[in-house]
Amino acid sequence: MYCNRIRVSDFRNIEFADVTFDEGVNILHGANAQGKTNLLEAIGFAAIGKSFRTSHDEDMVRFGAEMAEISIDFTDSVRKQNITVRMMKGKRKRIELNGVKVGRVSDIVGTFRTVLFCPENLSLIKDGPAERRNYLDVAISQLYPVYLKSLQRYNQILKERNQLIRNAEDDRRTFNDTVEFWSSQLAREAAVIASYRVRYLKRASECIRDCFFEMMGDREIPTAVYEGSSHREAEEYEDMAQTERIYYDLLMNNHEREIGAGSTLWGIHKDDIDIKLNGKSARMFASQGQQRSLALAMKLAEGEVCAQICGEKPVFLFDDVFSELDSSRRAYLSGKMTDRQVIMTTCEPYGSVGGKLIEVKSGVYTQKNG
Ligand SMILES: Nc1ncnc2c1ncn2[C@@H]1O[C@H](COP(=O)(O)OP(=O)(O)OP(=O)(O)O)[C@@H](O)[C@H]1O
Ligand SMILES: [Mg+2]
Repeated sequence: MYCNRIRVSDFRNIEFADVTFDEGVNILHGANAQGKTNLLEAIGFAAIGKSFRTSHDEDMVRFGAEMAEISIDFTDSVRKQNITVRMMKGKRKRIELNGVKVGRVSDIVGTFRTVLFCPENLSLIKDGPAERRNYLDVAISQLYPVYLKSLQRYNQILKERNQLIRNAEDDRRTFNDTVEFWSSQLAREAAVIASYRVRYLKRASECIRDCFFEMMGDREIPTAVYEGSSHREAEEYEDMAQTERIYYDLLMNNHEREIGAGSTLWGIHKDDIDIKLNGKSARMFASQGQQRSLALAMKLAEGEVCAQICGEKPVFLFDDVFSELDSSRRAYLSGKMTDRQVIMTTCEPYGSVGGKLIEVKSGVYTQKNG
């Protein structure tokens, strides 16, 4: 999969840009605060319909402008396609796939696939569970559109159910009348999502192990296993009917606890990935270097699993990652950048990597070679 060209207007500090990319490595190079990450953000946004930096679309509209537009030409093994996104202040974003308006973000996610890697990802092991859930959600959504649809429904139902719980003290009757409905809806979506996450992690775990082995030698073996909030063995979540029952029972048998807490206490919004090194929690016992290597392995695994399932390598978007890695991990990552498209940012000298060089200055992109 390749991003061939991007046109951007009034996005962040970019008034207008029209940039073409090679099918190999592309380097966005320049001093701080020039717009390197902004362009990467625009590419990532076209892929998954949300930014990796903000949840407010308006933040991305250039200061003083009314509308931002991103248009991406990309090719997969079959054909050339285009995704165009327009963000207007105070309005819903408008998305087009090949010139045809689509109703929802979930209609385009998975068409143009990317793996984004930024320095914050290096703390994936140390971070809280929300970051690891996000890792799973972004990866799986790009592979299976039904997953994203299910996740969106889940979040909507969760919102309703939490509202019901918060109002329960004042309006016990509505709570009693409707809690069964919301709980069964929530449990049904939870079962779908959990089964995708378990199966995804089974595959990813093997890739993580291979990458970690290549980086560190065979001294310690990592595993990444789904950790559901109902505390069953990961495999048990593969059986959707059973998972639905388990979550349903938890949601129907703990009302007083949930009303006390003021929110829904069980479900896939509480899940985590249990990452271990030689059977011991990596979060608690692995060294800082091991944790960073594991995080890097998890991002590379995301690319690998995507390639295995779709038969096509996703585009790697690397934001300032090299400056954060030591020389051996840099060398390892460089080795992983062949045979695929990489679009990366850096303020450092770029000589060692090689590729198409694009200089970035005040939101202006100038091709320097090739
Ligand atoms: N909505 C916006 N409108 C205009 N400018 C913006 C907007 N949002 C951010 N910026 C500007 O974009 C610039 C930052 O761009 P970006 O994050 O791409 O920098 P960078 O080149 O990646 O720098 P670094 O090397 O420090 O990461 C900042 O100067 C910021 O003020
Ligand atoms: Mg940056």
